[in-house]
Amino acid sequence: MKLINHYLPLLSLFILGSCNAQKSEKTTSLKNSYKGDFYIGTALSADQINEKNVKEDSLIHKEFNAITAENIMKSMFVHPAKDKYDFTLSDKFVAYGKKNKMFIHGHTLIWHSQLAPWMEQIKDSAEMKAFMKDHITTIVSKYKGSINSWDVVNEALNDDGTLRKSIFLNTLGESYLADAFKLAAKADPKVDLYYNDYNNEAPAKREGTINLIKKVRAAGGKVDGVGIQAHWRLESPSIEEIEKSILAYSALGLKVAFTELDITVLPNPWDLKGADVNQNFEGSAKMNPYPKALPDSIQTKLAERYASIFKLFLKHKDKISRVTFWGVHDGQSWLNDWPIKGRTNYPLLFDTKLKPKKAYYSVMQLKEVKQ
Ligand code: XIL
Repeated sequence: MKLINHYLPLLSLFILGSCNAQKSEKTTSLKNSYKGDFYIGTALSADQINEKNVKEDSLIHKEFNAITAENIMKSMFVHPAKDKYDFTLSDKFVAYGKKNKMFIHGHTLIWHSQLAPWMEQIKDSAEMKAFMKDHITTIVSKYKGSINSWDVVNEALNDDGTLRKSIFLNTLGESYLADAFKLAAKADPKVDLYYNDYNNEAPAKREGTINLIKKVRAAGGKVDGVGIQAHWRLESPSIEEIEKSILAYSALGLKVAFTELDITVLPNPWDLKGADVNQNFEGSAKMNPYPKALPDSIQTKLAERYASIFKLFLKHKDKISRVTFWGVHDGQSWLNDWPIKGRTNYPLLFDTKLKPKKAYYSVMQLKEVKQ
């Protein structure tokens, strides 16, 4: 008896320990921690779709349950000539998502950037109409039932909420917006259709987005959701503006997705005044302050920023369908080359060695505290 009494605390520690181990196995990934809240996605590069790096690949399926192609489904890659589509990589992307039981998002059908050169030559409305019909119908029909949601139109608005003078607006007028959504719904009536943009959590662009979606719907188009790209900064946008946007969009019956989340820790050239806004900063130490490592103080700021954003997302989890990071790890981020080439940025939850950063633990901790 004495012996048992002696070993009882040890035994209970062992049992507790193994329960904890089981619990932590279940919860030590973003996708498992946020299961039941919203999908946690990532953008995949061509190399990641081709499963080139085994370590990256296992991190992707461990942590994420939704995928977006960072580039390869954009029109210049998928539709390089008028009568030529190239689905080699997009087929692999969809197969990757199916194999790993992931939510598959299509990015993007109608966007003024990364157009194939032949598309930039389109001048008249008949030709543009024919392009839109062929492009949207061919791609959406091909992946009908496989792709779960589409960015039908990307970045149609200016920051003041007016319509961007894109090649689509210039040739077709604003009816191109409703037409795009109608064509997509016709090709796959069940797939979720999104309008996606950046800065659309800011008041003027938010109003513009709401107007755009109301007009598309009034013209008979189906819009299921709004994508807020969420290329954000340490200090802005405010949590209040993000919250107002979630509420305003969901009041229209829209699903809200954060589609391209990353947080830059570097100075932005356009925050500087006057002559500072030019390419002279390229490569300058002032614009690339952390080429070797991120100081602890900024690492902590980034972790706190991510925690406050995810706290808000959890508060409104019933309105949020998906939160997707724009890349798997810092080494892959487009923010190393934009808006200035060749900098070292630290915008994501995993570092270049694929190690979880402080920001990763701060996002995970929000769920652990509650359980
Ligand atoms: C970016 C990619 O990350 C880069 O690799 C590419 O060179 C340019 O496009 N908004 C979008 C995304 O909708 O498609 C963009 O992705 C980032 C801004």
